[in-house]
Amino acid sequence: MSVGRREALDSCRRTEAGRALFGLLPVFLAVLCLLACGKKAEPSPRKIKVGIAVYDQYDTFISELIQCFDGCVQKRREEMTTVLFNAAKSQQTQDKQVRQMIEDGCDVICVNLVDRTAPTKIIDLAKKHGVPVVFFNRELVEEDLFRWDRLYYVGADAFQSGMLQGKIAAESCRENPQVDRNGDGSIQYVVLEGEVGHQDAIVRTEYCVNTMLNAGLHLEKLGYVLANWNRLQAQTQVSQMIARYGDRIELIMSNNDDMALGAIDAYKEEKIERERWPLIVGIDGTVPGCRAVIDGEMAGTVYNDNRGQAEAMFELVCAIGLQEPMERYRLINGKYIRLPYQKVTKENAETYLNRKQH
Ligand code: GAL
Repeated sequence: MSVGRREALDSCRRTEAGRALFGLLPVFLAVLCLLACGKKAEPSPRKIKVGIAVYDQYDTFISELIQCFDGCVQKRREEMTTVLFNAAKSQQTQDKQVRQMIEDGCDVICVNLVDRTAPTKIIDLAKKHGVPVVFFNRELVEEDLFRWDRLYYVGADAFQSGMLQGKIAAESCRENPQVDRNGDGSIQYVVLEGEVGHQDAIVRTEYCVNTMLNAGLHLEKLGYVLANWNRLQAQTQVSQMIARYGDRIELIMSNNDDMALGAIDAYKEEKIERERWPLIVGIDGTVPGCRAVIDGEMAGTVYNDNRGQAEAMFELVCAIGLQEPMERYRLINGKYIRLPYQKVTKENAETYLNRKQH
């Protein structure tokens, strides 16, 4: 075949193939279209809005808890936003804040009630608008929590903290007989009570006292004061107690660390040398609390795991709002997550302090 004829034939074949291909184009386009339509558009990642309402943002334990919660949120910034409200100890204010959060479209709300006996308005509102609520730290009664299946509680068992505090105090009394300064075989004590009607106040005191009595110690109560979990209030109250009872105070049983630290402030302020201080025990294991244990100013404290509570709350929020499975924490009765307390003494206080700071 001559070159000219081969070229003519090739060109003819190319045109035929081209024509055939061109003919297939509509089919090709139709298939493409079908594929594109059949494949669902990728859902854009859902971003949820989480509202948090605290009873008092200046409460040391609560502010540490919120800081931890915030740390968890930072790692999932693209999936959630948060708004934080401080009720400044007014239930009325908190009710309004929750209403606003619902109006602003919050998908989940975490509430640290001001008055744990008055959650009705919040529950009614949340239920009406279908917004689940995770209550934390200030425990509402079971009856209220069971009023709707989308209400939860994250916290701890108050009695356990009292028991552990009693153990620390009893062990310290046994190891240091000089705690019984007047040698009358009885420990004269005062109680710094957190707050009227708070589950962690009444129960902690009761279990601390009973644990000490069960350990065989004799106790004599000199008095008790209410200091609302607050360091400054405790300092003022303890100064007055020092004026009243002087060296007779052998043990200060405080419902939390901040008030125990207030007691220490009072002894320092009164310029009373360390050897004359009573045994002081706290609860919470806050950063300043752990430091006071390390410095030997406090005999011990009980670790109230606010990091664990924040992480549990976060996992629960993700489960509710983002439909994620719960992995580390388990809901008891479909409602409760409770973190255990732990004893903190000079021997292990550093470990707890580090846990807080990392
Ligand atoms: C307790 C804690 C206190 C205070 C209180 C507020 O669990 O020990 O320090 O934070 O909660 O409700």
